[in-house]
Amino acid sequence: MIDKIKEYIGEANAFQTQNKEELEAFRIRFLGKKGILNDFFAAFKTVPNEQKKEFGQVVNLLKNTAEGKVKDIQDFLEGQEVSVGFYGDLSRPGEPLKIGSRHPISLVKNQIIDIFSTIGFNVSEGPEIEDDWHNFTALNLPEYHPARDMQDTFFIQTNPDILLRTHTSSVQVRYMENNKPPIRTISPGRVFRNEAVSSRSHCIFHQVEGLYIDKDVSFADLKQTLLYFTKEMFGKSKIRLRPSYFPFTEPSAEVDIYWGLKTETDYRITKGTGWLEIGGCGMVDPNVLKNCGINSDEFTGFAFGMGIERIAMLLYQIGDIRMFYENDVRFLEQFKSSF
Ligand code: DAH
Repeated sequence: MIDKIKEYIGEANAFQTQNKEELEAFRIRFLGKKGILNDFFAAFKTVPNEQKKEFGQVVNLLKNTAEGKVKDIQDFLEGQEVSVGFYGDLSRPGEPLKIGSRHPISLVKNQIIDIFSTIGFNVSEGPEIEDDWHNFTALNLPEYHPARDMQDTFFIQTNPDILLRTHTSSVQVRYMENNKPPIRTISPGRVFRNEAVSSRSHCIFHQVEGLYIDKDVSFADLKQTLLYFTKEMFGKSKIRLRPSYFPFTEPSAEVDIYWGLKTETDYRITKGTGWLEIGGCGMVDPNVLKNCGINSDEFTGFAFGMGIERIAMLLYQIGDIRMFYENDVRFLEQFKSSF
């Protein structure tokens, strides 16, 4: 019997597992109520007296070995659980980092800046909260001028001289006041108008203003600049300038690009004509130059203004201007691949 016990001691010593169920089976087999040790304890009384001492010792050794084994493995497994809980499963594949995307308005704005910077235009900015002078009066739109009605304005209630700019043309005034010709600048920015919000118009939107002042600048220069821009931006090479009126330019024109009539969408966005208006332009009115401290006998120039949402809607086929301001990630995520 002693040899049998020694065999069990060897077996208990050699036992190894990483598995809780196997360990529990081992514990029940050796230390459980109906386990090996209890059988030996029960057999103790049948052992001849002279062997009792040695028998007792080996049974105790088996008991200590089995108990020690269970405890060691238990400690090891618990330690492992802690480290799995703390670090997670280290063999798991990594989670991809969530990369944000640029807003479509920023994408288009940056593209416009790139296009104009290759022909020497810099970028200028001005405040969104403006005064009457920069937004209206200096631009040949004195108080009570009927053309002020074209731009429903948000005024600051306590001070009618302060308003939210209705167009980025205010930046050309600031730029001319602070810089001498030659001037070649574009001014992208946010503008505000007190208009009903719908799928086609919003009370907040973005424009980019262009201004070129030098000696002998002509309408042909304006036309060529706009044509270059449309080619680069839309890949379209036909534009038309329709006579129009803006107080700050004389003559003034509306810029249409020939979008074509290839698809049903083309019919819808051009109302079946193939032509699409993208902004206004003209030769800077001499009064505006004078208001901004530039000698209108020496210098001439052109200006233009375009809506950025309009361009983004065209390029990305977005049917509702409100999408730009809802910050719905399902919309924004679609611009991930662009940069
Ligand atoms: N400021 C005009 C608007 O918001 C757009 C515009 C038209 C700007 C003609 C110009 C221009 O610089 O020359 O409707």
